[in-house]
Amino acid sequence: MKEIGKIWMNGKLVPFKDAKVHVLTHALHYSTSIFEGIRCYNTPNGSAVFRLSEHIDRFFKSSKLYSMKMPYSKKEISKAILKTVKTSGLKECYIRPIAYYGYGTMGLTPTGNKVDVSIACWEWAMGESKAGKFSGAKCKVSSWIKIDSRSQPMQAKAAANYSNAALARVEALENGYDEAIMLNLNGKVAEGSAENIFIVKDDIIQTPPLSAGGLEGITRDSVIQIIEENGGFVIERDLERDDLYGADEIFMTGTAAEVKSVTQIDKVKIGNAKMGKITKALQKSFKDVAMGKDERFLSWLTFI
Ligand SMILES: Cc1ncc(COP(=O)(O)O)c(C=O)c1O
Repeated sequence: MKEIGKIWMNGKLVPFKDAKVHVLTHALHYSTSIFEGIRCYNTPNGSAVFRLSEHIDRFFKSSKLYSMKMPYSKKEISKAILKTVKTSGLKECYIRPIAYYGYGTMGLTPTGNKVDVSIACWEWAMGESKAGKFSGAKCKVSSWIKIDSRSQPMQAKAAANYSNAALARVEALENGYDEAIMLNLNGKVAEGSAENIFIVKDDIIQTPPLSAGGLEGITRDSVIQIIEENGGFVIERDLERDDLYGADEIFMTGTAAEVKSVTQIDKVKIGNAKMGKITKALQKSFKDVAMGKDERFLSWLTFI
């Protein structure tokens, strides 16, 4: 991690290396935090944050689902994000706002602690897409079942959801794969460990409904809107493991991953084991939108 710029902590910009928390911070012990992942792109017209208002809305939705009282307004957080990016001098970066129960009292009950908010940004060009951007990721269907909303609110982007995802990711990596795919308690495809998933079969693009347990991804929504605006459509339906193995193309979407191709699931090659033509075209359309080259979606960009 390159320590560039400053980190916004409860209203103050502090040097990157000094942005520290106490070891008895509640969230460190009990996962009592919610966060966002946002990207800023270096467009030909200047740096622009992608879908800022949607990310802010999800940040506040996450805090609401955890009954966490956010000590700042949406407007204040938006302004703080733009200020943090501007101060960093980075033209392109990944942005991580986080709200967490801080240091004060220990024990399970979080509410005796202050809710602290930080915003950091850093260079993360490849994000979560290393294996899927240029060739294709090899994915393992995880032996870990995706937790669901009967246990905790899955539409919150909460740290607590990510121990399940991290177990799946580590299992995949330890078995020689790049990424995990998680099935829900009914055996249907939910999502990747940090991405939504789409399959293409006979030129029909399909993705699991949110009721299958995936996060309501902002990139998922962007890709669906881009496809529809271009005259296509996406079918939302429950996907079986067989649908993965039998797909012509598979791709994943996420802020960190953008649009990444999947060319192998378990030991099964997908299509001709190369990035598919629809995936490739979507990668390009998505990048054009993020870079402000598609006028139809300019409202998705907030220039710094
Ligand atoms: C579990 C999970 N699913 C899906 C996504 C994709 O969401 P988005 O496109 O909003 O980044 C993410 C990334 O934030 C994620 O962590």
